[in-house]
Amino acid sequence: MTRVARIGPDHQDMTAVLADAACILQGGGTVAFPTETVYGLGADATSPEAVARIYAAKDRPAFNPLITHVASVKAAEVQGRFSKQAAKLAEAFWPGPLTLVVPLAPNANVCGLARAGLDSVALRMPRHPIALALIEAAERPLAAPSANRSGQMSPVTASHVFDDLNGAIDLIIDGGATTVGLESTIVACLGDEPRLLRPGGTAREDIEALLGLRLAHGCKSEALIAPGMMASHYAPRARLRLNAEERAPQESGLDFGGRFSPCPEVFDLSPRGDLIEAAAHLFDYLHRLDRLGKAVIAVAPIPHHGLGEAINDRLARAAAPR
Ligand code: TXA
Ligand code: MG
Repeated sequence: MTRVARIGPDHQDMTAVLADAACILQGGGTVAFPTETVYGLGADATSPEAVARIYAAKDRPAFNPLITHVASVKAAEVQGRFSKQAAKLAEAFWPGPLTLVVPLAPNANVCGLARAGLDSVALRMPRHPIALALIEAAERPLAAPSANRSGQMSPVTASHVFDDLNGAIDLIIDGGATTVGLESTIVACLGDEPRLLRPGGTAREDIEALLGLRLAHGCKSEALIAPGMMASHYAPRARLRLNAEERAPQESGLDFGGRFSPCPEVFDLSPRGDLIEAAAHLFDYLHRLDRLGKAVIAVAPIPHHGLGEAINDRLARAAAPR
């Protein structure tokens, strides 16, 4: 059963609720909270295990990259590299319903699972006082997609969240109905011209007026993401041999549940066969295996239920011919 903590209109009881929520987040749990757009399902963006719990609760069939929420421009600059245009947008529209996709900063600590393995990061500073206070209390950036099961509508009240996710998450902070009611606008500032990836709560015209240009549409190359869709994926240089019952000596191995015999060329996603743990390790281990430089990575069979479906989806994409 998921707990619901209510914060009154004049923000009474805010301190106690936030302390409780921060404690859950620091322990790797999931907390739904109001933002000015829609309710978000938050978890520690720096912890792959915590982020895996978001995907598990939402029943996502694939690992889409998630938006990381911060409480200041300074905190955003730790995670991403801001071009002049990106900095201008942040200054004008933050806090508010605008998400900026920027190149990952060298010292970023948002985990690979939150970024779906990409070397860019989506950042947003929300305007809702509860969201901002929660990120500050948690003392870390929060990955937060809308707090609904995949395929359901985005929640704008705490009871929408409860109806959809009761039992699947740790806590819901009820701060009343959200004001904007639809998701943030997403703009990518990745070196070329700024691109509109998803229309949302900040009007395109306002962004264009500020920058003095027309926003390019959607994704230019495969390396970008169509709104709400995963078009890009981390592709290792090595070839992936999926559903490998055993590993040949010249291959490296991505194991699950201790099928291959242990050796330095084998990384086990979860020796105890836990799919949440496996999801948490997926991108990190793929990167490490790729760095070993073997031509082929043998991948043990992964069960297809729970997060296994998303893991298999990612592996299939990574194994697809290019
Ligand atoms: O209003 C909102 O933005 C809400 C509230 C809770 O803040 N959050 C939200 O988050 O909608 P989320 O995680 O569901 O948004 C994910 C979308 C992806 O589907 C993709 O379109 C884009 O953000 N995205 C995230 N990271 C990206 C990246 N590195 N490159 C391109 N697009 C990215
Ligand atoms: Mg959503």
